[in-house]
Amino acid sequence: MSKQFDVVVIGGGPGGYIAAIRAAQLGFNTACIDEWKNGQGGPAPGGTCTNVGCIPSKALLQSSEHFEHAGHSFADHGIALSNLSMDIGKMLGRKNTVVKQNNDGILYLFKKNKVAFFHGRGSFVKATEGGDYEIAVAGTAAETLQARHVILATGSNARALPGAAFDEERILSNDGALRLGSVPKTLGVIGSGVIGLEMGSVWRRLGAQVTVLEALPTFLGAVDEQIAKEAHKIFSKQGLKIELGVKIDKVEAGSAGVSVAYQNAKGEAQTLAVDKLIVSIGRVPNTIGLNAEAVGLQLDERGAIAVDGDCKTNLPNVWAVGDAVRGPMLAHKAEEEGVAVAERIAGQHGHVDFNTIPWVIYTSPEIAWVGQTEQQLKTSGRAYKAGTFPFLANGRARALGDTTGMVKFLADAATDEILGVHIIGPMASELISEAVVAMSFKASAEDIARICHAHPSLSEATKEAALAVDKRTLNF
Ligand code: FAD
Ligand code: NAI
Repeated sequence: MSKQFDVVVIGGGPGGYIAAIRAAQLGFNTACIDEWKNGQGGPAPGGTCTNVGCIPSKALLQSSEHFEHAGHSFADHGIALSNLSMDIGKMLGRKNTVVKQNNDGILYLFKKNKVAFFHGRGSFVKATEGGDYEIAVAGTAAETLQARHVILATGSNARALPGAAFDEERILSNDGALRLGSVPKTLGVIGSGVIGLEMGSVWRRLGAQVTVLEALPTFLGAVDEQIAKEAHKIFSKQGLKIELGVKIDKVEAGSAGVSVAYQNAKGEAQTLAVDKLIVSIGRVPNTIGLNAEAVGLQLDERGAIAVDGDCKTNLPNVWAVGDAVRGPMLAHKAEEEGVAVAERIAGQHGHVDFNTIPWVIYTSPEIAWVGQTEQQLKTSGRAYKAGTFPFLANGRARALGDTTGMVKFLADAATDEILGVHIIGPMASELISEAVVAMSFKASAEDIARICHAHPSLSEATKEAALAVDKRTLNF
């Protein structure tokens, strides 16, 4: 006998669990199926984000940043430390506790919102004659669910280099990179994207010699060029060795470590020998185990679930969100799509504005942006004005002892509408929210320039960058 629901969500990451909660709030009898297992084989909802992504990476970034501060900048504050040491086991234990708190939090939210949770793999069995979908759950207990609406939120997996499968011992995906039991003396990173820079920073701060090999000739190509150049300079000074324009030929793991044969930007053959290698060259949408063929679910050429602008698949009443579909692979993008889909099922007009999705790279300094980069505006021929303000001239940044970076505004030359905001500097992840709000309300740079910002605060740099658009900064 199958269990009947209005909405079944497959996948309990940020896209899926948020969609399930919103659907339940809207009065639908909702189930969420997720197969992630914790170390004891029990449920661990939250997906990549909670288990091997956003949350554990930020926990380790925090621990390693404390360690770096203790070793390098505490002395400036008059704090003397001797015999500074790092207990990696304890750091990982803390990270695991943070992850578990988030897993448990989601299970609590399911109960609170009366979402039925099923731990196991969900796969399509068939579309019924009555217009429902039958979904099998293969888990601790086998179940069959039936629902009118299905939301697919099956996430993504790390992309491996051809011929160099992840063993999570020497060749690491994000998963292995987050649970190294000791600091490797030498660490290689392939791909200088978000994961490469965040995880490379963690292990560099803890003492590893880190070399990053990147295929593209430009560093952080999606980031505003001026910000990316600044980032490259700062990360190199911190000790990350970044080689651009490389071509990886062969990766071999042995008992002594990993050897990477590659060609440098000049086409010269090189070998990098490292203790551990993180491969962070992007992620692939995941549809493994869904049994998409049983119902004729269409995938696109990248293997993502094909959807339209409203997250509708080719099948009636089947929707898909998050990393499994087109668009940026970000937790908050997945969440917004989950909410929008639940609202569309309820006949409402859920909407996700891709132009105001913020990006953050949680390095130190952090990099955050929203909207268009200067190079995108140039390419599109849009007339714009730019204004920048350095943290060096911000009182709070001086008091914090962190004056690296800047805030940069890009606004339409005629209307002054904000087209993009780019930040590299302390707490950029928090500062970017003001820009997201401003752009969502179609504010002008002058609107931000005329708003009272608390003193002393880092947000004054945002106000000053907005003033700089009109060439009238007050403190620089
Ligand atoms: P996922 O989180 O991948 O969840 C999918 C879930 O579905 C998983 O639990 C999976 O087990 C389950 N599942 C799949 N198939 C089935 C099935 N057939 N049956 C049952 N269950 C199934 N994004 C940010 O915005 N900020 C960050 O700081 C950030 N940091 C990151 C750091 C790292 C190291 C990584 C790898 C990613 C990071 N991301 C970050 C990206 C973010 O994790 C993803 O964009 C986000 O998790 C996508 O959410 P999702 O719900 O689409 O998929
Ligand atoms: P990425 O797309 O950010 O970066 C991959 C990098 O690898 C690119 O610079 C690319 O040019 C390079 N590359 C690709 N193939 C290569 C090859 N063969 N040799 C050398 N370099 C190669 O992907 P990443 O870092 O794996 O992260 C995946 C996704 O996870 C991100 O795009 C992002 O959506 C998400 N994420 C988000 C975070 C955040 O929001 N703070 C943190 C971590 C991940």
